[in-house]
Amino acid sequence: MTKILMMLLCALSLFAEDFISEFEYGQMLYRDPRGVSCVSCHGETGEGKDIASYRNSKGEKVTISGSDIRFVTLEQISKSIKEGQGIMPRYFLTNKEIRTIYAYLKKVNNDDNNGSQDDK
Ligand code: HEC
Repeated sequence: MTKILMMLLCALSLFAEDFISEFEYGQMLYRDPRGVSCVSCHGETGEGKDIASYRNSKGEKVTISGSDIRFVTLEQISKSIKEGQGIMPRYFLTNKEIRTIYAYLKKVNNDDNNGSQDDK
């Protein structure tokens, strides 16, 4: 009896996985990529964001901001994630996860005319 129940639970959890679309998975990774969230520096949909600003010794205002990454290529995103860039930390995500984040950014920004070329 317990065995049957266990099998049922397993089957259920497998089905549950299907309820998460690639888009939702990409959004989830973008928000929480096992490290500092991309959102905190690049904004909810990759539009970029001011992170902090201060006055330097000359009294000039300096702003540190996360860049606009809405329309970056898969190569750019892969390089930045794996190597880090400036204050951006490096992440240890799989290529599939990186592609999924890329797909999320494309979809959330309706960038349809750019897919086939970068889809490797
Ligand atoms: C602590 C802040 C921070 C976090 C967190 C962060 N980034 Fe960045 N990212 C930056 C900054 C700042 C730059 C621009 C660096 C530069 O100009 O040298 C950048 C650059 C990039 C670029 C290159 C943009 C270009 O035009 O070449 C991509 C792509 C990118 N980030 C994606 C991501 C993704 C995806 C995540 C989450 C996995 C993430 N970043 C997390 C701060 C951050």
